Amino acid sequence: MVLKKCFLLMITISLALTFYSCSTVSDEKVLFFAHSLPTSHPVHKGILAMQESLNEKSDGKLQIKIFPDGQLGSEREALELLQIGSIAMTKVSASALSNFAPEYQITVIPYLFRDNDHLFANLEGEVGKQLLESGTEYLLRGICFYDAGARSFYTKDKPVNSPDDLDGLKIRVQNDQMSVDMANTLGASATPMSFGELYTALQQNVVDGAENNIPSFVSSNHFEVCKYYIFDEHTMVPDVVIIGTKFWDSLSDEEKGWLEEAADESVEKQKQFWKETVAENMKMLKEEGVEFIYPDKEPFVKKSRPVMERLLEDPKLKPIIEKINAN
Ligand code: GCU
Repeated sequence: MVLKKCFLLMITISLALTFYSCSTVSDEKVLFFAHSLPTSHPVHKGILAMQESLNEKSDGKLQIKIFPDGQLGSEREALELLQIGSIAMTKVSASALSNFAPEYQITVIPYLFRDNDHLFANLEGEVGKQLLESGTEYLLRGICFYDAGARSFYTKDKPVNSPDDLDGLKIRVQNDQMSVDMANTLGASATPMSFGELYTALQQNVVDGAENNIPSFVSSNHFEVCKYYIFDEHTMVPDVVIIGTKFWDSLSDEEKGWLEEAADESVEKQKQFWKETVAENMKMLKEEGVEFIYPDKEPFVKKSRPVMERLLEDPKLKPIIEKINAN
């Protein structure tokens, strides 16, 4: 653990030095962008689209260098690297951001968003704007949201047809209080850990299952170990592209414009990559013998209700939740 931290620190320092040398030796700027997903993932493809379009718009003057697959650490570590100004950008789940900027907690409320249209109508409207801006106070400025579909449970050995079947199952969740609360309220025994540790934890029976969207279930190869995927679709936690405020403030207005336009364009492409990947993945999972379970969602909706009720007690979050419910 200590060795890993030292190693990460060394990488970070050398990256920071490289960044500064790049930016001073020529008038090209390179933004280091770390994230935790594999390169086959549709979110990585969205980031590639942003990289390409930024390169075109700026005529190579502003570039993005991507470090995928958790090469620079977990999502929490990537956000901390942004805060100290060692790297410029990251893409994390909104769950990870909720540890830093509390407004993001609302994205982890089970069954808050009715469907993809309701989700994006909110994310691309006032609510989304408020969330993206809320990180600035914590040096984490939001740039855009990417589609991360709906998260559902998947298990190694036990088919789950109702929340009662989750009883006694150790389910890996993301490392934030809301995700823990969500899984425990539904009756599971929540086990938080980072995404990169999960494959081994499943293999070694540290956990009995996890929860995620289809492309992450597939690209992480968790389907090799888990034979049941349960479409309870408890949350729709989006992915978020973030830039550290130190880097943002160092960009000229023209550079900020290029970056924002490139991000906006990549959002539409990413949504398309997402749809295509889900369709391909579902076909492949069936061929691989993964059993799909489509449970009655009502008992899940009912049992998870206290999660929203607890957040409604927070005067800062209540108006955001009410706005979403009214939309
Ligand atoms: C999704 C999300 C990732 C996150 C992962 C997780 O795949 O896109 O950003 O790391 O879930 O469950 O940790």
